[in-house]
Amino acid sequence: MRKETFPPATTREIKRIVKTEVQKIKFSAHKDGVYRDPNWKEKISKEALDTLMPEDIDGCREKNLYVFSRGSSNKLLHIIKEKYPAKTIYSSGHFYYPPTGFMGWHTNCGTPDDHLYITYVEKGGESFFRYKEGDRIITSYDEEGLNIRSFSLSGTRPYFWHCVGSNCDRFSFGYRLCDTI
Ligand SMILES: [Fe+2]
Repeated sequence: MRKETFPPATTREIKRIVKTEVQKIKFSAHKDGVYRDPNWKEKISKEALDTLMPEDIDGCREKNLYVFSRGSSNKLLHIIKEKYPAKTIYSSGHFYYPPTGFMGWHTNCGTPDDHLYITYVEKGGESFFRYKEGDRIITSYDEEGLNIRSFSLSGTRPYFWHCVGSNCDRFSFGYRLCDTI
């Protein structure tokens, strides 16, 4: 997993777009209904991973999140395309995690591309991206504001096992960076 940075002017532009979108996303999510899962921490623990690992889980089995419209993620597409001109970019994940939100351990082994995630939180240290690296479990906490991470997925074992947890409002805009054929 790598933390990415954009030039300051681009970061400001991303923030401006994201802040507008998150208002709409939160409104839709609460209209449709969000809930709290008191067991969210256990579901993304090391113990949970130990149970799931023999099964090569492509998409997560358990979650507490709200999928928002691809249209919101597409509003950032031109910025991502500018940063990675050699890649073909698809928006691929549009998730709002409410407090106690999570996406359980999984590998995405069916789509082994490079991914970029732009996440936005109003409070730092309450949410994270967690992944397995060798024998270690690494928890990368979000800082207040924008957090930009990229990682490469593997279609073969040992895979890139990862999950997400949040005890605040976390908005996540995801993109697949594919080689242009
Ligand atoms: Fe994933």
